[in-house]
Amino acid sequence: MERTFAIIKPDAFAAGHAGKILERIYAEGFKVVGLKKLFLSKAEAEGFYYVHKDRPFFGELTDFMSSGPCIVMVLEAENAIKKWRDLMGATNPAEAAEGTLRREFGTSIGENATHGSDAPETAAFEISYFFSGMELL
Ligand code: CMP
Repeated sequence: MERTFAIIKPDAFAAGHAGKILERIYAEGFKVVGLKKLFLSKAEAEGFYYVHKDRPFFGELTDFMSSGPCIVMVLEAENAIKKWRDLMGATNPAEAAEGTLRREFGTSIGENATHGSDAPETAAFEISYFFSGMELL
C-alpha cells in the first residue's frame, strides 16, 4: 500500500464540489487515512509550494491557495500516487481527459480544483507538512 497527499483546493471547495470529489475518491477505492479542513495563511501556502518559489506564478498560486478554505487529505491505495494523479487529470483542466476531476471541476491552470503529490519523496514532505503520525488512521 502507498500513501499520497491530496488537496481539494479553494476553488472547488467554494463551489460546493468537495462532496462530489470525496464520493469519487471512495468510489475509486482509496482509503482516506487523514482529512482536515484548513484555511491556509499566505506563509503556509508559500511553505507548502516552496519548490515553486522561483516560478513566475508563485505569487498568484499562493494568493489563491490562501484565498479560502480547502481540504487536505492523505489517501491510501495500491500505487496511490499515480492512481490519484490519473483521477485528477492534467494540471491544465483544458487538457485534462474526460472523466477526470480537473476536467469536471477545474476552471484554469491555476484554479484546477485538486492537488496531488508527484513522487514518493514529495508525498512524504507534503503529508508531514500537514499531518502528524497520530492523525493518520
Ligand atoms: P498543483 O498540482 O497544485 O502544483 C503546482 C500548481 O501550480 C499547479 O497545481 C497549478 O495549479 C499551478 N500552476 C502551474 N502552472 C501555472 C501557471 N502557468 N499559472 C498559474 N498557476 C500555475
